[in-house]
Parts: sequence; structure tokens; C-alpha cells
Amino acid sequence: MRAVVVQHYGPPSVAQLTELPSPEPKPDQVVVRVAAAAVTAGDARIRGASFPPGMGTLGRLALGLRGPRSTVLGMVVSGTVEALGSRVAGFAIGDEVAGMAGGRMGAHAELVTIEAKRLVHKPAGVSHDAAAAAIFGGTTALHFLHDVAGLQPGQDVLVIGASGAVGTSAVQLATLAGARVTGVTSGRNAELVRTLGADEVVDYTTTDPTALGRRFDVIIDAVGTLTPATARALVREGGTAVLAVAGLGEMLQSRGPITTGTAPGSAALVGRLLPLLERGELDPVIQASLPLAEIARAYEIVDSGRKVGNVVVRP
Ligand SMILES: NC(=O)c1ccc[n+]([C@@H]2O[C@H](COP(=O)([O-])OP(=O)(O)OC[C@H]3O[C@@H](n4cnc5c(N)ncnc54)[C@H](OP(=O)(O)O)[C@@H]3O)[C@@H](O)[C@H]2O)c1
Repeated sequence: MRAVVVQHYGPPSVAQLTELPSPEPKPDQVVVRVAAAAVTAGDARIRGASFPPGMGTLGRLALGLRGPRSTVLGMVVSGTVEALGSRVAGFAIGDEVAGMAGGRMGAHAELVTIEAKRLVHKPAGVSHDAAAAAIFGGTTALHFLHDVAGLQPGQDVLVIGASGAVGTSAVQLATLAGARVTGVTSGRNAELVRTLGADEVVDYTTTDPTALGRRFDVIIDAVGTLTPATARALVREGGTAVLAVAGLGEMLQSRGPITTGTAPGSAALVGRLLPLLERGELDPVIQASLPLAEIARAYEIVDSGRKVGNVVVRP
């Protein structure tokens, strides 16, 4: 099968298309023929070993010292069941499925093996591109807004990085939940963020989002703009500020309303997200859908820090 291999951490050009043997499923695994895979900020962090401050050594110990131990990256997949392990129940060959591959990744390939418990059936009305695009940011936003912050209708939500993968989902999901949403992005994405449901857009190139002079019930910082101290000054009593890009220092200072950590990307979250796409309540915002062979181009878009929504590749 064709797969994109990353042997050493480095720039987008280290991601090389190559031939690998087709994978065999372990008893609890499913082999998925990839129709679309996302190229996410998470994939780009691993490829470039660009971990949040203070996390470099831990990151390399966990993932590999000079290059990723799992050389085929790709966390998010949508595709068709190709083969089943002996203990897998609930899926059949040919089923359309989607999910997050977990620590072993592998979705930047024609075929990927994934534990069955990480997959859901993809609704027929959702395209593979849409599912692959929406899952990374969508499950993150769902988890932090609803499961961590307990978002309620009528609350004030601040989304920093409102035009990215996490931000476009967070703006839409908060709007859908009946919140009043303020999105922070640059002027060129202001109209998009308004279209996604934001009541107000703050242009960070002209206005400092840490000095808005008012408070919010729920804050999602998907850029790394806030420190625990500046977040505390923006969040209402009883509210929650999620620092989704926290380094080690912020993690150690996170208490009370300040939350850090990693969204689980579980099948349960994916299963809650995809029906929203099917009902047309969530736009997956796809900036680019590229052939797998152009993955370096996809990584360049992600590395630019200017990505709008999501980028997917198709084998
Ligand atoms: N903790 C977790 O579980 C978790 C889960 C998922 C992601 N993350 C992390 O969250 C971060 C965001 O991921 P993502 O995929 O959403 O990123 P992304 O899509 O790459 O974000 C790019 C967007 O950020 C906007 N942006 C850049 N600088 C900004 C600023 N100073 N203020 C406001 N907006 C700004 C850009 O808009 P302009 O072009 O207009 O500047 C661009 O549209 C990543 O660092 C990722 O690792 C954490």
C-alpha cells in the first residue's frame, strides 16, 4: 500500500510517500481503507517535534527520540472496512466508518489498522471528507465546551483562534447550544466566523483579546494567547477557561476555573459529532482537500498558522 512515512522529525518535506506492506488486523482491530484523512495541528506537531513549551523531552520520550516510532502519522480517518480481526463484532466488511486512530496513528496511508472500539459507523449523509475534516476540532470543542465546561444556553463564550479547526467547531457548537459567542481571529476571517454564528468578532491584530474589559462564562483558547493569570481576569466566577495549547508551566498552574489537558477523541465523542454534520448543524469548514501525494503542501498550510478550518488528504 502507499503510505506517507516520517522517519525523522523535520519540515513538511520529511513526509515521504512510499510503499509499505498492507497491514493485518490484530484480533480487536479493523483494517480501514482510507477515503479521507485529516492533516491536523496534532500531526504537524509530531512531524515537526514542535511540542508546547516544557513538553519537548516528554514528547520525544513518548513518541520517539529522533523521529516518531509510529512512522505513519494521521490521527483521523474516514473510510471503508477492508478486513476484521477475529474478535471484532458490530462491523462488517464494506461498512463506512470514521474515528480517531489513537497513539499508533497511521491514517496517512491507503490502509490503516484501528481498534474497533475507536470507530463508529459514518452516517450515509456525511461525506468522507466532511467526517475526516470535522473530527479533530469537533471532538475537541464538544469535549471542552460540554463535558468540561458544562456550557448552558445564554452563557457568554470567548473562542480564541475562532477560524482554526478547534475554533470553527467551537463557535458553531456554542452557537448551537444557545450561547452568545465572541470569536477572536484576524480581519480576513471575520466574515467566516460571523457566518458560523459568532455574535461578535474581535480582530487580534488591532485589539488585545486579554484586555476586552469584560468577562465570559466559558473561554476556549486554541492559540496559546492566554496565561493562567490573563485567563483568570477574563473568566466569570463559576466559569471555565480552557487553555487547549498549554505548556508544562500552564499545566502546573491550572486549578480552579483554569483547565488544561487533552480531549480524548473517543468513539463516543465522534458518535455525538457526526449526526450534527448529517443534520447540517455543523459545517466542517474545509480549506483544502488534496491527494495524499501532496501531503507536504497540506503540512505547509498547517505549519503556516493561518489554516482556515481543516485540511484533508485522500489516498
Ligand atoms: N488540548 C487538546 O486536546 C487539543 C486538541 C486539539 C488541538 N489542540 C491544539 O489547539 C491548537 C489549535 O489547533 P487548530 O487545529 O484549531 O489550529 P489551526 O487550525 O492551525 O489554527 C489556525 C487558525 O488560528 C488563527 N490564529 C492564529 N493566530 C491567532 C491569534 N493570535 N489569535 C486568534 N486566532 C489566531 C488563524 O487565523 P488568522 O489566519 O486569521 O490569524 C488560523 O485560522 C493547536 O496548538 C493544537 O495542538 C489541543
